[in-house]
Amino acid sequence: MKSFPFLLTLVVLIISASASASSPLFSTLAGTSPLDNLLPFNYYHQSCPTLEEIINKKVKEWVAKDYTLAASLLRLHFHDCAVTGCDASILLNHEGSERRAEASKTLRGFQVIDDIKAEVEKLYPATVSCADILTAATRDATVLLGGPYWMVHYGRKDSRVSNAKDADMVPHGRESITTLIEFFQSRGLNVIDLVVLSGAHTIGRTACDSIQHRVHGLNGTGMPTPNPPIDDHYLDFLQRKCRSCAPDSESNYVDLDATTPTTFDAQFYANLQKKMGLLSTDQMLYSDSRTRPIVNTLIQDPSIFRNQFWVSMVKLGNIQVLSGQNEGEIRTNCSVVNSY
Ligand code: HEM
Ligand SMILES: *[C@@H]1O[C@H](CO)[C@@H](O)[C@H](O)[C@H]1NC(C)=O
Ligand SMILES: *[C@@H]1O[C@H](CO)[C@@H](O)[C@H](O)[C@H]1NC(C)=O
Repeated sequence: MKSFPFLLTLVVLIISASASASSPLFSTLAGTSPLDNLLPFNYYHQSCPTLEEIINKKVKEWVAKDYTLAASLLRLHFHDCAVTGCDASILLNHEGSERRAEASKTLRGFQVIDDIKAEVEKLYPATVSCADILTAATRDATVLLGGPYWMVHYGRKDSRVSNAKDADMVPHGRESITTLIEFFQSRGLNVIDLVVLSGAHTIGRTACDSIQHRVHGLNGTGMPTPNPPIDDHYLDFLQRKCRSCAPDSESNYVDLDATTPTTFDAQFYANLQKKMGLLSTDQMLYSDSRTRPIVNTLIQDPSIFRNQFWVSMVKLGNIQVLSGQNEGEIRTNCSVVNSY
């Protein structure tokens, strides 16, 4: 069996990574493990003992009202961490900030974070960072749609700067796999993290805008030719769905996971096998020889996706965090830096 050595490597990698995430002992043994030097779990145990209950209650309320907010929170956390680290820079709302960038146009969920923050400030003023709130809310949102639970590390501080040009570096779905691998690598995330975190697209939606080129793009002979190819029936569905261009209408969104859009599962990867990947970057995970073996492994054993997703999320949540004595601040209002 040709894929055996690869599979074995993957499983060993995953097991060692999971072990080091939950136990500092394994982390020491692993030496160069990317999960070294993580923030503590108990950062707020004294200063804000009920933090996780407050966050969980609020996220539950919001997602019960509108389940699509769960996916939006997950994406918001990614966009925060992917540029300048997990420092809530995406939440700052001023002219020229990340939030005002072109790439942030369809980000949602800000009101959930503001609501949690207001509650936390009432009980424990100036104690908990917006970056930590967003990280924990993302974990809770993932669990609510059926995803895995993991322990959240705390102690991130909030940035005092945010620039739109940074936000525009986040991948938008038309990159090559090489570009994505490099983007992830430069943030300490490997190719397994890339494939596994892309599985976040098992929930959530895209604006028709983002896929116009893929669904309606014509080749020299005037025929639509999505690259990589899309299943004929699915393409037909997409062309109808994205025909009208009324901005902001519900019909102008398409599920990223064509088969089980409201459940956090590994079906997203099986879709790729059937040429039902919506974003070309997603479909390319299956057509590129560097990532296809990983996709195949996740299709064969969905429990690997479940176990690796949270490990990769922990890595994502620890990118370039501000945690030193004089780094960052605890914002009292997530949309604006403290004035002092
Ligand atoms: C690998 C590179 C990635 C690319 C190229 C990419 C691209 C995109 C695009 C184009 C959308 C649709 C945006 C819109 O039109 O509104 C989207 C949505 C989404 N992305 Fe990604 N993404 C990537 C990685 C990630 C990662 C790492 C996560 C989280 C761990 C993530 C989570 C999401 C979620 C949950 C949505 C749905 C948001 C919603 O429904 O509001 N993405 N992504
Ligand atoms: C254009 O697309 C059609 C339909 O997908 C295909 O049959 C044809 O070969 C394509 N032509 C070129 C030049 O790519
Ligand atoms: C946070 O700041 C924004 C922008 O100045 C303001 O509109 C909002 O009311 C503030 N929120 C709270 C809870 O003070």
